[in-house]
Amino acid sequence: MTISNIQRRRFDSLIIGAGGGGLRAALQLAEADASVAVVSKVFPTRSHTVAAQGGMNAALANVLPDNWHWHMFDTVKGSDYLGDQDAIEYMCRAAPKVVYELEHFGVPFSRLDNGRIYQRPFGGQSQNFGGEQAARTCAAADRTGHAILHSLYQQNIRAKTHFFDEYFAVDLLKDDDGNILGAFVFDIHTGEELIIEAKTTLLATGGAGQLFRTTTNALINTGDGMGMALRAGIPLQDMEFFQFHPTGIAGRGMLITEGARGEGGYLVNVNGERFMERYAPKAKDLASRDVVSRAIETEVREGRGCGPDKDHVMLKLDHLGVDVIQKRLPGIRQTCITFLGMDPAEEPVPVYPTAHYTMGGIPTDRHGQVVIPVKDTPEEAVTGLYAAGECACVSVHGANRLGGNSLLDILVFGRAAANHIIDYLKENHYHRPLNEKSVEKAYQRLHRWDDTGEGESVEKIRSDLKRVMEKNCGVFRTQDVLDNGIKEVSALHEKLKHARIKDHSAMFNTARVEALELENLMDVALATVYSASARTESRGAHSRVDFQERDDMNWMRHTLYSLEGRKLDYKPVRTKPMTVATFPPKARVY
Ligand code: FUM
Repeated sequence: MTISNIQRRRFDSLIIGAGGGGLRAALQLAEADASVAVVSKVFPTRSHTVAAQGGMNAALANVLPDNWHWHMFDTVKGSDYLGDQDAIEYMCRAAPKVVYELEHFGVPFSRLDNGRIYQRPFGGQSQNFGGEQAARTCAAADRTGHAILHSLYQQNIRAKTHFFDEYFAVDLLKDDDGNILGAFVFDIHTGEELIIEAKTTLLATGGAGQLFRTTTNALINTGDGMGMALRAGIPLQDMEFFQFHPTGIAGRGMLITEGARGEGGYLVNVNGERFMERYAPKAKDLASRDVVSRAIETEVREGRGCGPDKDHVMLKLDHLGVDVIQKRLPGIRQTCITFLGMDPAEEPVPVYPTAHYTMGGIPTDRHGQVVIPVKDTPEEAVTGLYAAGECACVSVHGANRLGGNSLLDILVFGRAAANHIIDYLKENHYHRPLNEKSVEKAYQRLHRWDDTGEGESVEKIRSDLKRVMEKNCGVFRTQDVLDNGIKEVSALHEKLKHARIKDHSAMFNTARVEALELENLMDVALATVYSASARTESRGAHSRVDFQERDDMNWMRHTLYSLEGRKLDYKPVRTKPMTVATFPPKARVY
């Protein structure tokens, strides 16, 4: 096969990734009569959105008083003031509308007795700008992502979105001016390559939780969109901020939803002490995630952990009673029975912080357009390229995302990106010619793995990378440890150049996918350790033992990591909202 024989298909819009962000965008576009292709390396309903449990935030005020402005305040505070306040305002204002749209798409939300959508309390939520706990998270029991993803997929089938299921996207394609015009992909089953030409391309490939050994993330979360963006010359923003969810099953990582604490569960140490009362006297177990994860790690480090190795704490749910657990938390009950052989309705669950969410990503504005600094401008849009969801950094999560804001983010910004694309398509009727060198480059990237190599195996390098990241870029960080992380990841990066993959057997294409995924993960890992080493302050999820204070004087700015020269650049936080007053930085207490 040579490049000239490769089939070419043309669409108005290409979407890479079929999670909630990609499918919400695809639906909006298909309903506007655009021709839309969705490329996904897994069957769409296996995308990681399916694993989202506790729900999505929207100030519906169905259970307790609420409004979008309080939601905005909580999100800005939760972000440790690094979130861009125009984007946060946009998201919080759009949230109720987006939930009602989902309801109309058929999402089976749990219901209150009066028939309204059920909402549970989640971490970092308050009424009246820091007052009493709010109840803002709209839930479908503890399977909210599953309910949303399946409804969106069905709606896309109805709207005739074109799916390329189990196709892997190798790289973005450009024209002579550097505008993005589609992607080079291949069919994982057959190996057949395909050039998809598109007037616009949306990256919606999710996060990179596979950077770490213990994670809530599926095997597919390998930072593919971020890797593609880096290779296309786009920097990644705020990669030092990686969220550790406080309650993964200890030692294994499976998610036990924050909704478990929202329903009244609480954490105890080896003495049976409800220790969150010491760390967050008001919010207690519903403080924001960075605070709860640090508290758990501190309890364990100071010898108050549970179990023979004193290496975890316990989440108590048994007092809630079997009926509440079965009604509100059936999925986590099943998870505990399956993976731990115990019933949370009867005994506490062993938990420990686990890698969960990539707060950084591809820089975008609130229309989902990818924006980068160009020459003397603070930022300029990359024509034709959009990103939404966990692979993007709008930035609405800043240094720490609030639980329940991630489903919201993918739906609000998937929809916003599609609306911007629809306008763009009205002005841009024709396909521009591809720069064939960009096709050649993508082709070469894939075919580098035709040679099965003689170095260390891809599997070994991947498991070493996860171990190195866990050791050097966890909840608590220091300069020495981070710099060691740079050294060790760089060494693995070198090894990957000569790595060995499984030979030309029936598994050849999946072996190539694993190698390509590891290349993406490796670049994202480098972005993460370089950015973390540069930020000499503690903010949100980036907790430096050697720089314990937040430093607003020097660090109210986003980092931008570029592949070329592993260079770091910076841009200011957008502190001005669209219509309301700025929330200025304050001490962050819960
Ligand atoms: O705890 C959870 O259910 C996770 C929610 C989220 O990450 O937003």
